[in-house]
Amino acid sequence: ASYQKGVKHLYESGISKVPDKYILPLQDRPDNVNVRTNKSGGIIGTGKGENKNNNNLKLPVIDFAELQSPAKRPQVLKALANACEQYGFFQLVNHGIPSEVINDMIEVSTRFFELPFEERAKYMSSDMKSSVRYGTSFNQNKDKVFCWRDFLKLLCNPLSDVLAHWPSSPVDFRNLAATYAKETKYLFLMLMEAIVDSLLLERNVGTTKEHDEKTTEDQGLENDDNHNNKNNSNNNIMKKFQDGSQLMVVNCYPPCPQPDLTLGMPSHSDYGFLTLLLQDDVQGLQIQFQDKWVTVDPIPGSFVVNVGDHLEIFSNGRYNSVLHRVLVNSKRARISVASLHSLSFDCMVSPWSKLVDEANPRRYKDTDFASFLEYISSCEPKRKNFLETRK
Ligand code: SIN
Ligand code: FE2
Repeated sequence: ASYQKGVKHLYESGISKVPDKYILPLQDRPDNVNVRTNKSGGIIGTGKGENKNNNNLKLPVIDFAELQSPAKRPQVLKALANACEQYGFFQLVNHGIPSEVINDMIEVSTRFFELPFEERAKYMSSDMKSSVRYGTSFNQNKDKVFCWRDFLKLLCNPLSDVLAHWPSSPVDFRNLAATYAKETKYLFLMLMEAIVDSLLLERNVGTTKEHDEKTTEDQGLENDDNHNNKNNSNNNIMKKFQDGSQLMVVNCYPPCPQPDLTLGMPSHSDYGFLTLLLQDDVQGLQIQFQDKWVTVDPIPGSFVVNVGDHLEIFSNGRYNSVLHRVLVNSKRARISVASLHSLSFDCMVSPWSKLVDEANPRRYKDTDFASFLEYISSCEPKRKNFLETRK
């Protein structure tokens, strides 16, 4: 069917109505999706999207440079913990990745989607583990209703092995995307160090000041190390993140003639520890906040970072993997690049032993990447079932 060719193709064919395949049931559509949506705000937005009736949200801002400053770090760690608990999302500014690297990534992605369909189609694959996968919708082999998105998924580890499978066109694609992948991986590692610190820091608030005592009971991810030594055990976790998985998803949302009938991406949560999302200046991302869908205003050049399912599990439920989705609009195409990070695919994810004790019993079963793949291959991309891994 022609919708298998994707939405860029559809848009370019000049349609004025979205085909039936894309029309969501009434209750899932952007304007109606949530009867709890507060509609008193009138028209809010930059005028670039068409997110009428939806509230805009300013995410908590985390300043990465301040996080790296010994004097300011403790305060920023608290803000980080708050953001991960209350929003599951934050905006990362002053991240230190050169703007050239960021602009190049958006720009070369745009050029990739401008290639003739036949050129992009070379990278189509139904193998979920393929190191490169071009496609449309969420899962075009399963989705009953299609969503308004074309995508390119790139596995990033180990970079030296996968690079040869990445698109050879545009000619500078591999080089620019690899540089971007390395920079975001480094940023992820720095952020995870802070997240790990923030989880221990918060623990002392309102519970006990004697967490050093509790580290003698450590087991789990870090159990093969000297468990009396906080730094050692944390280093051990960090090593697992260094060796972990990275998946980049380049999303293209062309203008849509009837944006109220469909979505760029349906409601879902991300599987990994953290997702670093880069977007251009077109809004579209919505997150669930206090039982409402709210639109995140893009700050060009910064990252939207969110807690994934694996971090929710690792934090034993303290940090929240929050549902989000993407709206489309009729005027401007939108490009985003999501970089998803977790442990390596064969690693089990479990609640961190330092966060589990009699007062805080384990809330989740262990999970791994294989069970996630099984999950997404077998049902709709709604997360709540997946978190039935909850113990
Ligand atoms: C995602 O949820 O991974 C992508 C979100 C976006 O395109 O803004
Ligand atoms: Fe996502």
